[in-house]
Amino acid sequence: MFRSALAVFTVIFFIACEKESAGPQYNFEVPAYFPARHYNVAFDAKKFELGRKLFYDPILSVDNTISCGSCHQQFAGFAHLDHKLSHGVNNKLGTRNSPALFNLAWMPAFMWDGGINHIETMPSAPITNPVEMDLPLATAIAKLNQSAQYKALFKDAFGVNQITDYHLFKAFAMFMANIVSGNSRYDQYMQGKTTALSADEIEGKNLFMDKCASCHKPPLFTDFSYRNNGLDSVFTDDTGRNHITQLQEDIGKFKVPTLRNVALSYPYMHNGRTETLENVLDHYSSGIKQSPTLDPALQNGIALSPSEKANILAFLNALTDDDFVNNPAYAEP
Ligand code: HEC
Ligand code: HEC
Repeated sequence: MFRSALAVFTVIFFIACEKESAGPQYNFEVPAYFPARHYNVAFDAKKFELGRKLFYDPILSVDNTISCGSCHQQFAGFAHLDHKLSHGVNNKLGTRNSPALFNLAWMPAFMWDGGINHIETMPSAPITNPVEMDLPLATAIAKLNQSAQYKALFKDAFGVNQITDYHLFKAFAMFMANIVSGNSRYDQYMQGKTTALSADEIEGKNLFMDKCASCHKPPLFTDFSYRNNGLDSVFTDDTGRNHITQLQEDIGKFKVPTLRNVALSYPYMHNGRTETLENVLDHYSSGIKQSPTLDPALQNGIALSPSEKANILAFLNALTDDDFVNNPAYAEP
């Protein structure tokens, strides 16, 4: 009697443990000083896992060769390492650099020009773009409905027998909104671990707060505004924010990118023209080009001595979040 009760207990205990260790670890904490999310939906593990699978599945491209993960690589902060311009189906080149992807739930608008204003409609742009995945949305949905595996997964996540674009977008949004990064050494320092930053990095942080933070505003390291940071004097290839608003005053303005994990996501700027962070600092100190929409804060450039540059660079490197780029919950399933 006692022995069999113990055996039952042991079995239950074993199953419970196995379940614990087999399940993915969802560590999506962000520091308390992060602002409120722009997009706030309760976490759902099934939708998240479905979104993750879709993110890495080339089924959503015309020739089954390119997935979101082809251009957004976890080890590069979900940017495309060493690719100036995005590289889609049939080796077609886009016109812009793949941005890093994280903390998207805080982002009011997407793309370098802010052309997409909701996280749930975001995936339709890369899926249908002829130089990215080149698949009409209706074909994408039909392909998913032809897959027994996806039919089962969508049924499990949404309780439906027929997959629609609504479900596709909801699953993607659940994954993307939960890609968070908030545990760099800077964050550890901000949470009281005074040894997390070296003296040079703290000096770099102070310089950064003085010279860069008006646009790259902590804790997200962007204020989500559109600015012309002096890369060109004329903007004929890509007019930036003006492409969306048609306003003269928006010519040459691009969304201020986050600088979290920036050491991992080279090359830089909307067209990937700048190879290294050293080159970025040289740009701000001596490469600013004048144009009618140049940001007032950059009219005279940002004076930086060699040692100031070295310290800012050290600080930018302290914005790398190793837990985030190694988080198995974001890896290809
Ligand atoms: C061929 C490369 C490529 C593929 C494939 C691709 N992207 Fe992108 N992604 C880009 C580029 C380039 C941009 C910037 C485009 C722009 O600003 O016009 C971008 C922008 C984004 C953004 C906006 C980020 C921001 O900071 O504004 C999100 C979110 C995103 N992609 C998610 C996805 C998802 C989800 C998929 C798969 C459905 C995907 N991408 C597939 C290259 C790619
Ligand atoms: C007036 C606003 C403004 C100020 C001040 C500013 N930046 Fe920027 N920064 C931008 C904008 C806008 C971009 C994107 C420009 C583009 O791609 O066309 C950018 C891009 C960058 C990038 C490239 C990131 C990427 O992922 O491509 C880095 C790195 C950077 N800035 C660092 C700095 C540093 C360091 C300072 C201070 C020395 C600074 N910025 C000051 C607006 C600003």
